[in-house]
Amino acid sequence: MNICLNGTGTDMRAVWSSGGKVRMIDQRRLPHDIVVVEFKDHNEVAEAIRNMTIRGAPSIGAAAAYGMYLASMNKFDIMKAAETLKASRPTANDLFYAVDHMIAELNNGADPLIAADSYSDSIVEKCSKIGEFGSSLIADGNKIMTHCNAGALATVDIGTALAPIRKAHEQGKKIFVYVSETRPRLQGMLTAWELLQEGIPHSLMTDNASGHFMRKGVDIIITGADRIAANGDTANKIGTYEKAVIAKELKIPFYIAAPVSTFDLDTKNGDDIVIEMRSEEEITMIGDMRVAPAGVHAVNPSFDVTPSGYITGFITERGILRPDEIHKMRN
Ligand code: MRU
Repeated sequence: MNICLNGTGTDMRAVWSSGGKVRMIDQRRLPHDIVVVEFKDHNEVAEAIRNMTIRGAPSIGAAAAYGMYLASMNKFDIMKAAETLKASRPTANDLFYAVDHMIAELNNGADPLIAADSYSDSIVEKCSKIGEFGSSLIADGNKIMTHCNAGALATVDIGTALAPIRKAHEQGKKIFVYVSETRPRLQGMLTAWELLQEGIPHSLMTDNASGHFMRKGVDIIITGADRIAANGDTANKIGTYEKAVIAKELKIPFYIAAPVSTFDLDTKNGDDIVIEMRSEEEITMIGDMRVAPAGVHAVNPSFDVTPSGYITGFITERGILRPDEIHKMRN
């Protein structure tokens, strides 16, 4: 991710390790301030996942892999550290996948830092392949819609949903991206910030404007995913489901871009996916200001499930699969 720091291009990832610490861009401070925070143990990494310093399923997975590296380096009980990291957020499959991967690597005697680094590198390689495959779906002149942030920040680098968009732009296709702001945590601002860095034409819109723009003319919708069940039902940021329903009504292809680590083939369908409920204050407050009348309560699911029947296909590092081909993601 080539971040523009005061006009000087600086190449950074969402999470990495150096000098015995784990470092992350604090996504709560973006897009206004680029602040790098550092962590010395796995408890701090778990807290950073919980409080959304780092977000997006693949980035959360990489952060957890680095958390396991810190636990091992600090001679902490690996299984207890795994439990703490896995308890940090419930929905993103990558978190569980990454921790289990690290347990297996450490039990096989792998060097903890090399194992965490190569887990993180492998995500970036997968995103690059997702970009190659997905860009074939985007034609010159296409208007694309996305939701939440499935860019470099959410995936260590490059992105899942944003990878085909970046690639299509690199290929010289003239594209335009509608970005929903993604209430309440405004991950759409991060997507817009990434597109701005890359010079990709786009507009932010409110979440509830998506039907309006789809009716006016959107060629393709691509989002990321937090967990994909064996039947293709997909949990992604709240607001994804309604976009998929409108897309089907208007015959707009709706794609999910995700690596193997997001597929949970042990979960039969979307009803079995745990949906994280977050605090009321994310809705009733904006910063320090209360916007809801005192005494009003809010309910705040962080994700929704889009049934597979609304999904045209999955853009993965192994190619583009129809929902009934998902079994190919096993091993
Ligand atoms: O709550 P977050 O910010 O961690 O959720 C991220 C998402 O839901 C994104 O939509 C994303 O597509 C999944 S990660 C690439």
